[in-house]
Amino acid sequence: MPCAFMKPLLLLVACAQFTAAVRTFTVYNGCPFTVWPAIYTDLSVGNNVPQFQTGWQANAYTSVSFLVPDAWTSGRIWGRRDCTFPTGSTSPNTCLDGGCNGGLLCDAHTGTGVPPATLAEWSLGGTTGMDYYDVSLVDGYNLPIRITPTSGCPVAECPWDLGPLCPAALAGPYDTSGFPVGCKSACVADVDGTPSNSSNCCSGSFSTPQTCPNSGVAYYWFFKGYCPNSYAYAFDESSGTALWTCPSSNLANYTLTFCPAADGAEPSVSAPSSAAGSPSFALESTTVDPKYDTRHTVLVRHQ
Ligand SMILES: *[C@@H]1O[C@H](CO)[C@@H](O)[C@H](O)[C@H]1NC(C)=O
Ligand SMILES: *[C@@H]1O[C@H](CO)[C@@H](O)[C@H](O)[C@H]1NC(C)=O
Repeated sequence: MPCAFMKPLLLLVACAQFTAAVRTFTVYNGCPFTVWPAIYTDLSVGNNVPQFQTGWQANAYTSVSFLVPDAWTSGRIWGRRDCTFPTGSTSPNTCLDGGCNGGLLCDAHTGTGVPPATLAEWSLGGTTGMDYYDVSLVDGYNLPIRITPTSGCPVAECPWDLGPLCPAALAGPYDTSGFPVGCKSACVADVDGTPSNSSNCCSGSFSTPQTCPNSGVAYYWFFKGYCPNSYAYAFDESSGTALWTCPSSNLANYTLTFCPAADGAEPSVSAPSSAAGSPSFALESTTVDPKYDTRHTVLVRHQ
């Protein structure tokens, strides 16, 4: 019930309960190896942060749960691979990928992950009355992940290990055994050599949904083909299977799983014979809301 319609005596209590609403987030490491999860909140969008540390060690098959405020307006969680945290070091480069400024605990202001990294992103609550969430491969891939909301809302996922499947031009970094623990996006791999004016990065002359169609993004077919329910380039809302919503009034809880069990057969995906970005999806709408900030892939509501 909207607070404005309540009797004055009830107003204070009811609205206080509403603003204090929280969600339970569970992060489960289903990988047979240690992952170091990390949380980043874009404080320029909102001040609410999860009630948990910004980084931790998750041994194989372990989980943690924590509370997240109902108005976590722009946040992400991802996994870091093959990390060491030398005493005194705050370098983001002591993990093979996904590392953040700060060390084990990511810096609250600058602690975003070093790509390639698969991101789980949320924008809870807000003026539209919807939770938005997605699995982003915009900055490449480093771990299979799945977001499972309670209350019947759709799953977002990239459940396959894209490292061994990755096209040679994008593969890596590699661990000491030579196994690819990441797969860069065409933008991160800088395959065209002009990152500030690139159809792969949706930058420069290609900075809008109209000027940056998926057909101009090299290897879009690879990421979207294997992981159709993920965000495979900066303006992938147009696919209709990138950005997911759940009514905020559901107060959904969310589970993020690293290395989820596959619930089907791995798709068979091969390079299209012609255009690098094919298969293409028509732009459904010229309105982008919310959309990605291309440079940082932080969910931001522009309205
Ligand atoms: C960016 O690239 C496009 C297409 O190659 C070109 O037409 C445009 O002039 C370039 N813009 C800048 C600022 O270099
Ligand atoms: C979310 O989790 C809390 C704590 O376990 C539980 O009380 C609540 O019913 C859950 N809500 C939904 C919508 O699943």
